[in-house]
Amino acid sequence: MSLVRLVYFSSASREMSLSDIKDILTTARSNNKAIGVCGMLCYDNQFFLQAIEGDRKVISELFIKISEDHRHQDVVIVSFSEIKDPLFEDWKMGYASSNQLLNEMVTKLDMTSFDPEKLTAIQCLAILKSLSRQQTEA
Ligand SMILES: Cc1cc2nc3c(=O)[nH]c(=O)nc-3n(C[C@H](O)[C@H](O)[C@H](O)COP(=O)(O)O)c2cc1C
Repeated sequence: MSLVRLVYFSSASREMSLSDIKDILTTARSNNKAIGVCGMLCYDNQFFLQAIEGDRKVISELFIKISEDHRHQDVVIVSFSEIKDPLFEDWKMGYASSNQLLNEMVTKLDMTSFDPEKLTAIQCLAILKSLSRQQTEA
């Protein structure tokens, strides 16, 4: 088995309510558990930033499915890499939205609001990793 991590960002098709996010997470957590995928999802300023980790073929298929979801658009792959160990193994799909830590990181990165288009792959991953440490339920 070849373990990989894929990170992408996208724009929500419309402003997401808490219940929209809950729908995504309920499906994601149930599916990801069944297919051995873990990861972290962040939603802020109408951008999604997500990392998914698992078997290479499984992640490829899952990403194609996610990218076709009409709840978001303008999907951009930030990185796709083979990994030795997962970073997000505690979470079938962790989740964070606008919170103090994210706001602090946004300010530190010289952004006025969360905008993954302005971030490098390393910065995207660092944000997701930091957020996963203080993961909250939607
Ligand atoms: C931003 C975003 C992230 C998503 N992440 C996942 C995910 O990690 N796993 C997953 O199975 N579905 C995820 N989905 C949902 C999929 O696009 C799709 O709706 C779902 O996998 C369909 O599941 P079903 O075939 O069981 O109905 C995500 C959707 C969006 C909009």
